[in-house]
Amino acid sequence: MLEPMKQMSTISLDGRSLAALLQEEERHYLSHLLNAHQLPKPKLCVILIGDLAASLTYVNTKKVACEKVGIEAEILHLEGQCSQKQVIETLQKLNKDPLVHGILVQLPLPPGMDTATILDTIDPLKDVDGLHCMNAGRLVLGDTRAMIPCTPKGIVRMLQHYKIETTGKHVAIIGRSSIVGRPLSILMSHQAWKGNSTVSLLHSKSENIQEMTQQADIVVAAAGRQKMVNSSYIKPGAVVIDVGIHRLADGSLCGDVDTASLQGIAAAFSPVPGGVGPMTVAMVVENVLTAWARHYKAREPK
Ligand code: GUN
Repeated sequence: MLEPMKQMSTISLDGRSLAALLQEEERHYLSHLLNAHQLPKPKLCVILIGDLAASLTYVNTKKVACEKVGIEAEILHLEGQCSQKQVIETLQKLNKDPLVHGILVQLPLPPGMDTATILDTIDPLKDVDGLHCMNAGRLVLGDTRAMIPCTPKGIVRMLQHYKIETTGKHVAIIGRSSIVGRPLSILMSHQAWKGNSTVSLLHSKSENIQEMTQQADIVVAAAGRQKMVNSSYIKPGAVVIDVGIHRLADGSLCGDVDTASLQGIAAAFSPVPGGVGPMTVAMVVENVLTAWARHYKAREPK
């Protein structure tokens, strides 16, 4: 008689618990250094332009996370109608302020503002989002002085924590944004960042997306399309990372992945909420601590 096929057990990659663990480590790291040395407290300034509800929530989450660790965090809220010149002048002031160690401009910017010009105004040493062209260049070159964008860094940290092998593996990333997909493709493929994967960077013009993802050991959904990725996109045993976040009509949240369809097929997936989101925030905190430590030539976190 044939044995019934055993279903794979699918685990959830708990970003919330991992971020809480990292937050504890970050808090310890900072209190230890502040006790041992006469140093000013780290400070992050977040620039928020306009009133996008999601951006307002994100910047408040980052502020609270910083404060829990002992970092001072200030939100500079500019009107949506402010000029690009005002934003640039604000950044230039923050660049000069020796007691501001991290600067972050929440994206997206209002229409009419040039994102690259604004991001490149930030002092690259204070650029905790890693989006200044110098940090982007260093990331590509494998220069460890790069500030690494927080969501890709959080994804890599999550894979490492769960001991998910990336060396020699095929990683398919859906979405080529400058903030997630593209930097992640570099981290995952580079030897310097210990990714060592073969990466397919898929996007809206890619042909046969499903054929590509079906061959991948790790699939990262960062397309901004709700529940786009389902079991027909993945091979049995694959790991699926969900970067999307969408609010449904009933008020609940979902990601770019239809996670229910992966049960028994995927080896693991990151849930929404509680997966990549908290990891991104933990990496913002880590990057502020890194910028602060480098400023005072102190020991860096991680
Ligand atoms: N908007 C959405 N995600 C991010 C992020 O990681 N950093 C910034 N600055 N803006 C965002």
